[in-house]
Parts: sequence; structure tokens; C-alpha cells
Amino acid sequence: PIKGVIFDLDGVLTDTAEYHYRAWQRLADEEGLVFNREANEELRGVSRRDSLLKIIGTKKYSEEKFQEMMDRKNRYYVESIENISPTDLLPGAMDLLKELRSSGIKVALGSASKNARPVVEKLGIGEYIEVIADGFSVQEPKPAPDLFLFAAQELGLEPGECIVVEDAGAGVEAALAAGMRAVGLGPVERVGEATVVLLSLEGVNWQDLQASLNSLVL
Ligand code: BG6
Ligand code: MG
Repeated sequence: PIKGVIFDLDGVLTDTAEYHYRAWQRLADEEGLVFNREANEELRGVSRRDSLLKIIGTKKYSEEKFQEMMDRKNRYYVESIENISPTDLLPGAMDLLKELRSSGIKVALGSASKNARPVVEKLGIGEYIEVIADGFSVQEPKPAPDLFLFAAQELGLEPGECIVVEDAGAGVEAALAAGMRAVGLGPVERVGEATVVLLSLEGVNWQDLQASLNSLVL
């Protein structure tokens, strides 16, 4: 039986994926680096450092300059999330969190972001989340399974007892590598490898989701 749900944050519970994108776009424009919304699809769920590595491509920078660019992007991002509030939760997210709690299902966050805690606080969902695994929790970023394995361990559950909800290809990959079933949110081109693919959490209830996950022969 499924005993725990691990939620990715950016692009799953709230649309901060858009703010990450805009911050990278601003940095790229300032640095004359070729980047756009389409290229950004590759960066969903990807750590800050790996994101910038993808953006610069074959260009070479000193570690100091690289650091400065990561810091600058993060400043832009932090500015943009300053005013987020519970109204920035994506449709269906709050209802599902409440239903999971009343069903006795444990909930963790599994986000690559070092800004996950302040975002959770601003969204007002701290009371629904038992464990926060974030950009400080493990060394190896998604698509490595480490972050989700850490979250399961902190919940006191076996990987097979947990499912992951993700909007990123790298996150779906990480979940499956951890031995967890994955609910992918978004187009199949992005999350098609997931156990179950949905467009969003809108209208999703736990009973139905659990039933569709369990009906699949793995
Ligand atoms: C992930 C986002 O949740 O966190 C990525 O999907 C982001 O876009 C990554 O790069 C790291 O976030 P941060 O806040 O530590 O730069
Ligand atoms: Mg995400």
C-alpha cells in the first residue's frame, strides 16, 4: 500500500517554475547567452549549478564568474518570490494535501531548490508537510534518486511505499530510479515516463489517484 507522497515543489504545488525561468532568462540576456522558453524545458527540476552549465553550453567561465552568475540568478529569483502567498498554490494542490492528511498518508517535499523552505512558508502549507528534503539535503541532484530516498527515509517509509509527484523529466527519472511510482504532471513529451500522467492536480482526488496507481501491473 502507498503510505507516503513526496511532492516536488516548483511546477507542482506552485508555479515558481515560471519564476526560475524568468530569472535565468534575465541572466542569459545580460550575458548574451542564447536561451529561451523552449530551452528552459530542459532545466525543470535541474539544480542551480547544472542549470547554468546547460545554459552556457560550451562556453568557459572562471569559477568565480560562474558563482557570480548563479548568485545573480538567485537574487532575481528571490526577488520574484518575495510576494507569493497561499493564492499562488496551483489548482487542486491544497485539496489534495488536505485529503492526504485526513487519509493518514504521510507527506514530504522533495525539491532540488535551496529556496524551498521560504516558499513553503509563504504558501502556508507547512502544517501539511512532515518532511522537507531540499537543495541542502543531499549531494547528488535529480535525476539521481538520492533526494527522494532521503525523503522516504525521513518519513520512515520504504521507497516502494512512496509515490512521487513531479513536473520534470529529471524528477520522474529520479523517482523511478528510487524504486517509487511517479505521477507526472504535464505533457507526455516531458513526463511521459511516469507511471501515471496528468495535466495538473486540478480535480485530482486521492481515492482515484491511488486506484489508478494500484491498477497498473508493474
Ligand atoms: C528546482 C527547480 O525545484 O530547483 C529548478 O525546478 C531549480 O528550476 C532548482 O534550478 C534549484 O533551485 P534553487 O532555488 O536552489 O536555485
Ligand atoms: Mg518541478
